[in-house]
Amino acid sequence: MKKKEYSRRKFIKHSTLTGLGIGLTASVTPNLFSSCQSDGTAAILGGQPVRTKEWPKWPIWNTETDEERVIKVLRSGVWSRSDTVIEFEEKWAETIGSKRCLATTNGTSAQITALRQLGIGAGDEVIVSPYTFIATIQTVLMVGAIPVFVDTNPATFQIDTDKIEEKITSRTIAIQPVHILGLPANIEKIMDIARKHKLLVIEDACQAWQAEVNNKKVGTFGDAGCFSFQNSKNIPIGEGGAIVSDNDEFMDRCFSFHNFGRPHGKVVGTVSGGYEILGSKCRITEYQAAIGLAQLKRLDGQNTHRETNAKYLRAQIQDIPGILPYELSENVTRAVFHLFPFRYKKEEFQGLSRSKFLKALSAEGIPCSSGYKPLNTMPYLKDAFESKNFQKVYPKEMLDFDGYLQRNQCPQNDQLCEEAVWFGQNMLLGTRSDMNDIAGAIEKIHKNAGNLKDLA
Ligand SMILES: Cc1ncc(COP(=O)(O)O)c(C=O)c1O
Repeated sequence: MKKKEYSRRKFIKHSTLTGLGIGLTASVTPNLFSSCQSDGTAAILGGQPVRTKEWPKWPIWNTETDEERVIKVLRSGVWSRSDTVIEFEEKWAETIGSKRCLATTNGTSAQITALRQLGIGAGDEVIVSPYTFIATIQTVLMVGAIPVFVDTNPATFQIDTDKIEEKITSRTIAIQPVHILGLPANIEKIMDIARKHKLLVIEDACQAWQAEVNNKKVGTFGDAGCFSFQNSKNIPIGEGGAIVSDNDEFMDRCFSFHNFGRPHGKVVGTVSGGYEILGSKCRITEYQAAIGLAQLKRLDGQNTHRETNAKYLRAQIQDIPGILPYELSENVTRAVFHLFPFRYKKEEFQGLSRSKFLKALSAEGIPCSSGYKPLNTMPYLKDAFESKNFQKVYPKEMLDFDGYLQRNQCPQNDQLCEEAVWFGQNMLLGTRSDMNDIAGAIEKIHKNAGNLKDLA
């Protein structure tokens, strides 16, 4: 790797990746030793940071074309679900390669709607991964079912498909796999298992817009695919979600559910059709759809840019001892890198803890995060088990919480959560030289590891 030239010196106060929703913060200590030379000293110890330049900001929008769409909606006075939402749904279905799409208020409501309309509820077990955003699990609990955790493959950061079958019981009704970080799970193997055991599959593709396995978009393998368009996401709307499926009957029910149980149809405001099913309200607005349509134009190009940079960065850091970049699952033809992950092995950094590594990396001007914590042990599970609904529906032995925790241990995931490091998707929208900065900063910390161990 090329040696970096640390020529310029600047005071960096606080560079924060706002809106990433994942707590990626680079708090760069103001450097008070401006006489310091670029001698390779770690920035956190008073040396010159590898970079002082800003990272690409997120979200990105075009003040002419994007604003024009939103203003058009604003001036129309039609703000509740109408033609713009329908246009967004049609375009999203086309983008993903699905027959139908229903836009919802967010990814969480997409998942709850899909789970409910697939008939999943009290008494059911749903197989999930513990390495995910909380919504993957909470949506299962919200429909009254019990999440069953399958350990994570630390190399891919995805559900370990070799461990799924041993978790299937007579109560298992579905798998809700997540394509986490924008890297596809081994969805073909998951579908084989689901077919063999007659299980439903609800893909949580909330971080994987346009990711592909064997040239087929994730979200289109299972009975339903769910997406999120929250502000940090690769296609940001602020808030928004979608369900995709080829099954008309299921999609009609989803539509109905998301509109108070009124019959499926274009007009959402009418009460004349009555209420066919128990419903709720998860409709998105016209101006959300207008932003979505504008963002959609950029998604493909940005995803390609991210993937190109991710591959390059991976190649630059893979030989640094103690850095284990992500591996892709079998047959992945496109990854969309909502996050760029690697595992950090402190043994190769003279025992430097991950938290100190992250602080030192941030000080070099590289925003980074430790990522998820294990979701299979947190108190929200007990709260659900102790709720009135669960207490009334489930037999006592199923609500034995200690037994549940015991059955749901995920040791590989525990270790992964101790070792993971992430970079945000906006960083991958930078230049090749930006990727070199990241790699250079990691190398620099590796060289300085011995001096950094005593950091507070
Ligand atoms: C993996 C995953 N699933 C589900 C969700 C829920 O999406 P939303 O925040 O739009 O409700 C998110 C959002 O962060 C997510 O990352």
